[in-house]
Amino acid sequence: MTNIGSYADRLTNFDWSLAERELGYRKGDPINIGWYCSDRICQLGMAEKKALIWEDFHGTSKTYTFGDLRVLSNTIASYLTGLGLAPGDRICLFLDRVPELYIGFLGILKMGGIAQPLFSAFGEDSLFTRLDNAKTAAVITQRKHVAKIRKILQQLPELRHIIVIDPDGPPLREREIGFRLDQAPRVENFAVHPTTAESPSVLHYTSGTTGQPKGAQHVHYSLISQYLTAKWVLDLRPDDLYWCNADPGWVTGTSYGIIGPWSNGVTQVVLDAGFSTERWYSLIQKHRITVWYSAPTAIRLLMREGTAVARKYNLSSLRHLCSVGEPLNAEAVLWSKEAYGLQFHDTYWQTETGSIVITNVPGMPIKPGSMGRPFPGITATVVDPKTFEPIESTATVGLIALRPGWPSMFRTYWNNRVTYEGKFKNGWYICGDRASLDVDGYFWFVGRDDDVINTGGHLVGPFEIESALLEHPAVAESAAIGKPDAVNMEVVKAFVALKPGFQPSDELDLEIMNFIRKKLSPLAMPQEIEFVKSLPKTRSGKIMRRVLRAQEWGEPIGDISTLEND
Ligand code: WTA
Repeated sequence: MTNIGSYADRLTNFDWSLAERELGYRKGDPINIGWYCSDRICQLGMAEKKALIWEDFHGTSKTYTFGDLRVLSNTIASYLTGLGLAPGDRICLFLDRVPELYIGFLGILKMGGIAQPLFSAFGEDSLFTRLDNAKTAAVITQRKHVAKIRKILQQLPELRHIIVIDPDGPPLREREIGFRLDQAPRVENFAVHPTTAESPSVLHYTSGTTGQPKGAQHVHYSLISQYLTAKWVLDLRPDDLYWCNADPGWVTGTSYGIIGPWSNGVTQVVLDAGFSTERWYSLIQKHRITVWYSAPTAIRLLMREGTAVARKYNLSSLRHLCSVGEPLNAEAVLWSKEAYGLQFHDTYWQTETGSIVITNVPGMPIKPGSMGRPFPGITATVVDPKTFEPIESTATVGLIALRPGWPSMFRTYWNNRVTYEGKFKNGWYICGDRASLDVDGYFWFVGRDDDVINTGGHLVGPFEIESALLEHPAVAESAAIGKPDAVNMEVVKAFVALKPGFQPSDELDLEIMNFIRKKLSPLAMPQEIEFVKSLPKTRSGKIMRRVLRAQEWGEPIGDISTLEND
């Protein structure tokens, strides 16, 4: 029997208050995610239960109980408060997947701060854009990432503290302060800030087509959705050993790499190391992982290695598999059945939705290639792109639309109300993805409705790449698009027109790629650069990425009547 039981039964009379009751929450009560993920689990008698089994690249391992989570997150919360940081302050986590990232997240929430997790692979430009936009008050980081912050520090007057968790070594500089969690006096009791349902909790930056990345702002009430979806979709149970591949720099790594499992009192494994088939299978075998939340790019990489490698390991502990981030192709679902005897269950959602909204819940027949059906409590449909009215006929492609109001929906884009409001049409939240519905109400993903590049499940905004490209002395103008890729679905390709006096060359090609990798991130780095004389533009001067993309994908170009230089 699964946690959700019958999907059909759950649809009728569904009410989110069911999750509120399970969590012992009543409207108007304080609600603090940090407290729910640690103190409450201890109150339920699980202080001695393992919460986190952490392993790094070298195989070094550390284990933390829920009791440890409680006390250590208190310790961080109290330290942050002692520095003068106040509720509502944005506190960034700029860390590899070290225990301090997970415990720090809870600590920030406990003192009422807004957690702003960012990938530690970000270069100084990506970092600057997000810290500047959020007017971040403090960053918690590691020694090895400090240099990137130093480069932009003078342009960030609001950034008061750079907290370095491994301070040994050369002296720290301006605004930097060392804090070792394992040596700090343990704080048994901390007065958790009485955040309420609508108090801001997490700020996750996500890319759009235009402008710089936007901060999707969530609130503590999101817990209701995250708790219940983790229980019903990931099917998490008390004796599970759960593994989520995602980095908390990405929303999957917070909603389901922290909040979902821990609010359910479930033990999770974190691997602070990159992808390797053998390493991953060894981890599953060693810890007897039962529930695994992964992503299509990783699954395709595993597929490439074949089922024989999978057979070398004892993976029999696995009982439930889920995937998120990109279209999960039918082949991957069929292959996983062959390799692990289990099908991956696709889940669809976004930074903005905060939790899974369309999915294959356990027990529901899977149609390989389909994302499944709406989670109970979510009203989802596809709408006409012009009228924003639901499309009645099946198999007609429209825009995925959700009826606003579920608990974990983002409350705004930080400092950008206008863009937030622009996401709502005719009473629907428009996700920005195209899909169709079949007669059984299953959603079939078609593609994004904008120019955002989805590489290995991570969204990269073309504007951010193009802005960074323009900082290179040789670049006159540029356009970034997604190019088809067998493993990552898309990789970044840049079209570059050079300034007079510069000639295309292999060296310049490499130099520009590395320039972007350092400034933005390895993900945003173009895998290919095509030097062109000029770029297709509209008469008003806007670069038509659509034309370049169509060429790359061999698709029809569509209406180019506004093209300037055709
Ligand atoms: C895409 C990730 C196809 C989609 C949690 C969405 C998917 C964007 C799926 C959000 C899926 C996510 N099938 N596409 N199952 N899941 N996407 O904000 O384009 O990083 O809008 O959140 O990823 O990406 P984000």
